[in-house]
Amino acid sequence: MSDSEPELEARLVAEESFDPPASFTEQANVADPALYDGFDAEWPECWEQAADLLDWEASYDTVLDDSQPPFFEWFTGGSLNASTNCLDRHLDDRGEEAAIEWVGEPTDEANETYTYAELHREVNEFAAALRGLGVEEDDVVTMYMPMLPELPVAMLACARIGAPHSVVFAGFSADALATRMEAADSEYLVTCDGYYRRGDALDHFEKAADGLDAVAHDVTTVVVDRLGADDHGHDLSDDHHDYDTLVADHAGATVDPVARDAEDMLFLMYTSGTTGQPKGVKHTTGGYLSWVSWTSQAVLDVKPEDTYFCSADIGWITGHSYIVYGPLALGTTTMLYEGAPDYPARDRLWEIVERYDATQLYTAPTAIRAFMKWGTEHVDAHDLSSLRLLGTVGEPINPRAWNWYYEHVGDGECPVVDTWWQTETGGMMVTTLPGVSRMKPGAAGRPLPGVDAQVVGPNGESVEPGQAGYLTVQKPWPGMLRTLYQNDERYVEEYWAEFSDTDSDDPDDWVYFPEDGAKVDEDGYITVLGRVDDVINVSGHRLGTMEIESAIVGCEGVAEAAVVGGDHEVKGEAVYAYVITEDGQPESDAFREEIVGAVEDAIGPIARPESVQFTPELPKTRSGKIMRRLLEDVANDDDLGDTSTLRNPEIVQEL
Ligand code: WT7
Repeated sequence: MSDSEPELEARLVAEESFDPPASFTEQANVADPALYDGFDAEWPECWEQAADLLDWEASYDTVLDDSQPPFFEWFTGGSLNASTNCLDRHLDDRGEEAAIEWVGEPTDEANETYTYAELHREVNEFAAALRGLGVEEDDVVTMYMPMLPELPVAMLACARIGAPHSVVFAGFSADALATRMEAADSEYLVTCDGYYRRGDALDHFEKAADGLDAVAHDVTTVVVDRLGADDHGHDLSDDHHDYDTLVADHAGATVDPVARDAEDMLFLMYTSGTTGQPKGVKHTTGGYLSWVSWTSQAVLDVKPEDTYFCSADIGWITGHSYIVYGPLALGTTTMLYEGAPDYPARDRLWEIVERYDATQLYTAPTAIRAFMKWGTEHVDAHDLSSLRLLGTVGEPINPRAWNWYYEHVGDGECPVVDTWWQTETGGMMVTTLPGVSRMKPGAAGRPLPGVDAQVVGPNGESVEPGQAGYLTVQKPWPGMLRTLYQNDERYVEEYWAEFSDTDSDDPDDWVYFPEDGAKVDEDGYITVLGRVDDVINVSGHRLGTMEIESAIVGCEGVAEAAVVGGDHEVKGEAVYAYVITEDGQPESDAFREEIVGAVEDAIGPIARPESVQFTPELPKTRSGKIMRRLLEDVANDDDLGDTSTLRNPEIVQEL
């Protein structure tokens, strides 16, 4: 485990549970409970069902190659192209149907619909343009863009030419962009001039340009013009390529999709871990695409005629898997909303659901808690009867928020799927099957059919129902990450070392550890208790304490810092910083602001500390490790428990 002992508080699971509504089950993509046993009996061949959802250029010879654990390979020998699967194969039946419905934030602006034919055309044109700029197969192309339709266009254009993409969340700072571009040796960037957020035209290009200044190698940059006349007057003509011009220059171009091996990288996604450097999670073409397609169909019940709405940002894995790849692979209509859920008013999301007759809504508990706080009148003002299924992801959902979602948004007629998964898992792992399973608010559900997730004790032994332990995955799955980019060693260390016999070449001796605590009940339902490493989950976004601490320690006048997650009513967790100043440094509000600013510069506004507390010392164990648990208790105003193992117990009073 991490240096701090895991703290696994019991989380409430509601007494009341719910059967899936009969009206839902009648039409569900998956309605047969026998799937669970069937998949166990057929494992790993059961996953051919997922691969069969795709069109393969060459079919695979082997479902699972487990000869070199933990470097598992799926559908080897097969080849396919992700953009063909998301576009070309739908043209005959769905060419004139909407692939993307894009809603910009300003209400006085026209929304945009991309039919499958239109999306296919623009992806081809931009793929040709990227080639023209020199992008070759296996070159990593970085995207630093908010929720604009050009983002999925660029992702699919990369997929078409076999160039992996690395999307950096637009809310991340210039420094964060630079770190990720350097780590991936990425020589291409697609970005934009700006975007709208709560009515303001944000200057995004300035951040991108600052990031580029910090990258040591040359970068070819494409800029999407989002703001038109509202832009910030940057002169882009010399160094950068204008997206619209490039696409116009390649009007009507077609690019033959490159056949990629199933195991070829589709994309990289950087995510936070315990140590400083973000981890470049590598996902593949065959396994990942099979996984997100199968889970979109089985769990989100996606059908081609749906209008599916996921309110996540494409800059995170949820958006990759369940706005872009899963929904488009299944040929449905996927919604993209640019702005804030409370702009211009607190009913914006419901207004969109009503206007587009959205059939599914997939969002985060933090959003649900905010909606709750804003009051039911905003939901009640809209006809949401088009909704058939509700989903949540990103953090544990408390039963009160679950019930609110179920009742006020779903009117008691939509199943709620609480989906546990991670950037690394590629797609959903633990959740109910909405047409099959009883729902227990607060518990995610059983592992999906074919997924061997188990809760274990510190030595890997199984634990009694109700007992807190560690979540593990005991068998590989097609959507799993394959490694950390150019760092196989760290891959083994971070995800496998804890519970595996790392000397063994027997795949059964290898256990994946997602670094979450969990408990399981008599029915096999798993309640995820949260991270047991030094990762904070703010509004469903993962932040490494080390990254934040090193930003703070980088401020002149700071001697030492520790950052922990404290409970927060809406965000789930918030960042609490404890700072020791150097002699002579005034502990002023101005200095606090400077520290907050340094964190924003290093990572982005999402990592903004909620509180910065100055302290003469940090609570440390006798071996000199910071006792984070104690700082968390301080942040939460909790009982501090046993402090006798501290080297400096007197500091506790002071804090
Ligand atoms: C971490 C992964 C999954 C895409 C968005 C976040 C937490 C995620 C749940 C859930 C309880 C959850 C875990 C996990 N988490 N979903 N339904 N219930 N916790 O992806 O940034 O990779 O974060 O989010 O702690 O490890 P991520």
